[in-house]
Amino acid sequence: MNWKELYQERLTSAEEALKHIPDGGRVVTGHAVGEPAYLMTVMAENKEWFHNVEVCHMVSLGKDEYCQEGMEGHFHHNALFVGANTKKAVNDGRGDYTPCFFYEIPRLFESELPVDVALIMVTPPDENGKVSLGVSVDYTKDAAKNAKIVIAQVNDQMPYTYGDSFMDVSEIDYFVEHSAPLPELKPAVLGDVEKAIGANCASLIKDGDTLQLGIGAIPDAVLLCLKDKKNLGIHSEMFSDGVVELVEAGVVNGSAKQLLPGKMVANFLMGTKRLYDFVDHNKDVAMYPADYTNDPVVVAKNDHIICINSCVQVDLMGQACSESVGLKQISGVGGQVDFVRGASMAAHGISILAFPSTAAHGKISKIVPFLDEGAAVTTSRNDIDYVITEYGIAPLKGKTLRQRAKLLISIAHPDFRPGLIAEFEKRFHCTYEA
Ligand code: COA
Repeated sequence: MNWKELYQERLTSAEEALKHIPDGGRVVTGHAVGEPAYLMTVMAENKEWFHNVEVCHMVSLGKDEYCQEGMEGHFHHNALFVGANTKKAVNDGRGDYTPCFFYEIPRLFESELPVDVALIMVTPPDENGKVSLGVSVDYTKDAAKNAKIVIAQVNDQMPYTYGDSFMDVSEIDYFVEHSAPLPELKPAVLGDVEKAIGANCASLIKDGDTLQLGIGAIPDAVLLCLKDKKNLGIHSEMFSDGVVELVEAGVVNGSAKQLLPGKMVANFLMGTKRLYDFVDHNKDVAMYPADYTNDPVVVAKNDHIICINSCVQVDLMGQACSESVGLKQISGVGGQVDFVRGASMAAHGISILAFPSTAAHGKISKIVPFLDEGAAVTTSRNDIDYVITEYGIAPLKGKTLRQRAKLLISIAHPDFRPGLIAEFEKRFHCTYEA
């Protein structure tokens, strides 16, 4: 049977395909913009067909009807990263969070987290009978490779990407055709604080560096400050519209990269239609699974890699919590530690944690004497490199506890410095001198 006949034979409705999810089984769904929202909606609409099904994923951008109130007994969420839509379910007990480095997630599906059914979203097959996983290769490819059953939403609006993003039609058990626009994340609105942080981060970036950046106001602010740089490269877990602008301005070309020169490397993509159009059939964009992009050893092959991430709070020793407010899980480690460690191992690598000095409209300092009770240490004090706020840059690597505390106080919001200084003087039995 050729691939076209196989595809036709395996083409079915969402309802028919989803009936193969076993009671008590584990379903892994595609990530972020690559989430097969249609399949997940149909699954939740027919909740009475399913009993004690675990639904496992990282960020989701759909409605996540399956983990709303009233779904108990039918579905339970296992979060590998807590997102805006799943936060309530996890904190209300309809879900659980599994701590895990992003680069290890693909391997979890080979062993600790066996997959019964993978729900993924793919492009229509190309002339060779290959589908592309488009904007979500990350853990999605390995979840599918290890699943007993693979159900794919075939979306002709999914961009066709290159790299290690392909699956053969024969590797997918059921195809459900459903065209839908991808979710779009609009660029963040930048205030003076974000712009100052962006400028501080950009002051550490040199021509020819390779960048890892996340999504949101701070990465956008950093990218805005890079318009005069040359020959920058991208090796990241994800990138967004800000990178497209720098490619079009001739700033990002990857010419100085040691690993995959000329290629923008990522494992997932999130942004607007402009980004999705840019990556579609673009051979300069190389999408790989997270156990490659995020493996610290692979990250370290990029000399001069600069990794910029954010956190919830940092204590005076330089321990950073990036995923919970106290015990309340609000996100996950994601790829933060993968890149922090990769940058440490790279020749001339730098990792930066950048964040506004305060949260809650200035009421809470993000630089604190102690992390909140119950807060997870995401990036340890041994791993931390540079901390940046709108007030400056604190280079912590190789510094004593006393030096770290002093540097961190110098970039805290002035309103909170007296309290931090009092803690400094108590802890180190000495007078604080700026
Ligand atoms: N105390 C109490 N609440 C705090 C806080 C603090 N110190 N810092 C942040 N918050 C609250 C905010 O008020 C906000 O609450 P809301 O959702 O009710 O508005 C929420 O936590 C998120 O904070 P915000 O500043 O909007 O987050 P962000 O979009 O800048 O993201 C992280 C910051 C840390 C959550 C995010 O960078 C992350 O998840 N990092 C870990 C993963 C990672 O680094 N991956 C690699 C890059 S993709």
